[in-house]
Amino acid sequence: MKTKLDDFRLRLGKNEYVPIMIGGMGMDISTSKLVLEAARLGGIAHLSDALISAVTDRHFGTNYIKERAKKYKKDAHLVNKLHAQFDLEETYRAVRLLVEDTMEKKQGKGGIFLNIMEKLSMANSKGTMQARLNAALDGGIDGISLAAGLHLGSLKLIEDNPRFRHVKIGIIVSSARALKLFLMRAAKIDRMPDYIVVEGPLAGGHLGFKVDNWQTFNLKDITMEVLAYLKKADLNIPVIPAGGVFTGRDAVDFIELGASAVQVATRFTVTREAGFPAKTQQRYFKIKEEEIVVNLYSPTGYPMRMLYDSPCIGTGMRPQCENLGFILDDEGDCSYISAYNAEVERTEGKGKLVVPEKTCLCTYMKTYGTWTCGHMAYRLKETTNQLPDGNYQQLTVAQVWHDYLHSTDHTHIKPPLPKEAQILDQHPDR
Ligand SMILES: Cc1cc2nc3c(=O)[nH]c(=O)nc-3n(C[C@H](O)[C@H](O)[C@H](O)COP(=O)(O)O)c2cc1C
Repeated sequence: MKTKLDDFRLRLGKNEYVPIMIGGMGMDISTSKLVLEAARLGGIAHLSDALISAVTDRHFGTNYIKERAKKYKKDAHLVNKLHAQFDLEETYRAVRLLVEDTMEKKQGKGGIFLNIMEKLSMANSKGTMQARLNAALDGGIDGISLAAGLHLGSLKLIEDNPRFRHVKIGIIVSSARALKLFLMRAAKIDRMPDYIVVEGPLAGGHLGFKVDNWQTFNLKDITMEVLAYLKKADLNIPVIPAGGVFTGRDAVDFIELGASAVQVATRFTVTREAGFPAKTQQRYFKIKEEEIVVNLYSPTGYPMRMLYDSPCIGTGMRPQCENLGFILDDEGDCSYISAYNAEVERTEGKGKLVVPEKTCLCTYMKTYGTWTCGHMAYRLKETTNQLPDGNYQQLTVAQVWHDYLHSTDHTHIKPPLPKEAQILDQHPDR
């Protein structure tokens, strides 16, 4: 019998999981439905609190975005946006609402974790981080993955929370160097992480590498470096590589190297449970390798991987910080605001405005116009059936899950064809 991913299990403390972790996909791409299905199947999946008020407005009938717009309308002309602060109580309530509602519906032995990005500084990085973390803990989340930042101060912000030492906490790093810095801080309050996600250069979303050198790194080497460092430091913490793990065999290769599980995301973007509209999913199935680029359009300052024709590229809308404002730093700035204003000045407001090199990420994440994906997305078409109309068959979380767990030799177990397509497929004219 050939080795398959289902031969392994991930152990975190007393809990045992199927060794697949679905990474956070903000905003609202890794939906409640998606994470609940992964938990039912015995693995771990992440909600994301990116643009949390927009998520609860969409699913729970809150009105946070409209109310913010109304409240700050008179100040919308101001260049600096420090006035557009987030109400901490409201941020807490929104995160808790999403977490609590999802946890109440959980079935099965899997885990539901929350991905919390430090780069979403929300014009008050410390205050909002504390509110977000506490809300997740109080809402009953199984685990928190600290993402998009070094998180040197994040653990300290919640050390008084009664669940601080029981909940699973992980850190996402792209180098052993970043991990060392985090562990030094964690040691000071005697709270080591329960797992470490090592995210390599082929991942989707923001990257922890430079735009012009990501090609010189590879996930296998970084994973080995992290494993060697932990061994030397006599630390027994599960390591979970992420980025480009496309087949069950890819995952097994990492586990045989010493990893405890894998974190994956791109394969799940084209599932029924994911947030992307069906039309965007068809675009994902049809991706060609040369269409996937790493650029600096994101105002976070991190490079981001996306499709060259993402709707967010080459636009010039007025900054939406009064409504959204999630990327505002502690001085009330976002690099999109400066890029926009420079362009207004240069063109003297004449003609259609196009802001080169930056995008209003909040707006385009909210409307699914930032088509981010992992580098292997050009192989999504291999994982399903092409239908008679030329489109590709949408998958379900359970089908992708089954393929990861049971396939061998880098092949894929495709889903059964829908009934209508089977009939057409057997038609003598085809
Ligand atoms: C559509 C999409 C959105 C993502 N959003 C986030 C995010 O909000 N926060 C984060 O830490 N990582 C994000 N990621 C990265 C994933 O969580 C994951 O670590 C990585 O993409 C795994 O590599 P793979 O996509 O090749 O499987 C995103 C990835 C994708 C594909």
